[in-house]
Amino acid sequence: MDIKEKIDISNLPKHIAIIMDGNGRWAKQKSKLRVFGHKGGVQSVNDTVEAAAELGIKFLTLYAFSTENWSRPKKEVNALMNLLVNTIEAETKTLIKNDIKLISIGEIDELPRNCKNKLKKAIKLTENNKRMTLILALSYSSRNEIISSIKNIATAYKNNDIVLNEINENLLNKTLNTKNIPDPELLIRTSGEYRISNFLLWQIAYSELYFTDVLWPDFKKNHFYNAIFEYQNRERRFGKTSEQILNQHE
Ligand code: FPP
Repeated sequence: MDIKEKIDISNLPKHIAIIMDGNGRWAKQKSKLRVFGHKGGVQSVNDTVEAAAELGIKFLTLYAFSTENWSRPKKEVNALMNLLVNTIEAETKTLIKNDIKLISIGEIDELPRNCKNKLKKAIKLTENNKRMTLILALSYSSRNEIISSIKNIATAYKNNDIVLNEINENLLNKTLNTKNIPDPELLIRTSGEYRISNFLLWQIAYSELYFTDVLWPDFKKNHFYNAIFEYQNRERRFGKTSEQILNQHE
């Protein structure tokens, strides 16, 4: 039986988030420039988006560019921005055809103007799509996102719009970039690195973490299915005991 058939379609994670890593090393292994690796990564993005939509995943978040990535060599940053713009532009038709809605999280105003404009255009053109939401994390920093939430809540408190007891998980959730998006049940990181790198720190409190040595440009549909299959074979206890979880299902 191939790996896709082993997946229990009735028990899919609603939201999968991915830290796409290893483009640079993949290019180096091939004695190519880092940009070659990012280009290779685009094919994996296409494969993964297609696999997720076909399976019935409702939300897929891809960490495409962190605020820390701005400090990479200017040449690489420019190449990455161009690649992003071109990919978004080239793939908008496919997103529409496949009923996929595109949104972004992060400090979008920091992006170069043409990148921001093309992104906004694709977001607008796909806003009514329903099958799956593709969330691109661009110029994203989870700590900045949390700081911004705290500022919003502090302002609301100062203006007497809320009382102290109203500050809870629910309120914080509503002030994050990810409001209206369920927390990811599964977080995947490629390339054999075991870090979270300032990604969705609040939202992954109970996510299952899946690490693979595969470099992002080599990550294809079967790797994605494999991560979901492994997720489905883990016991999610949310702080409870195994016995409690078993009784719950009886
Ligand atoms: C990490 O590899 C990857 C990135 C910082 C960028 C990811 C971007 C893409 C896959 C291209 C376009 C994406 C979209 C959504 C259209 P790395 O450069 O950190 O690799 P290394 O750790 O081996 O150096």
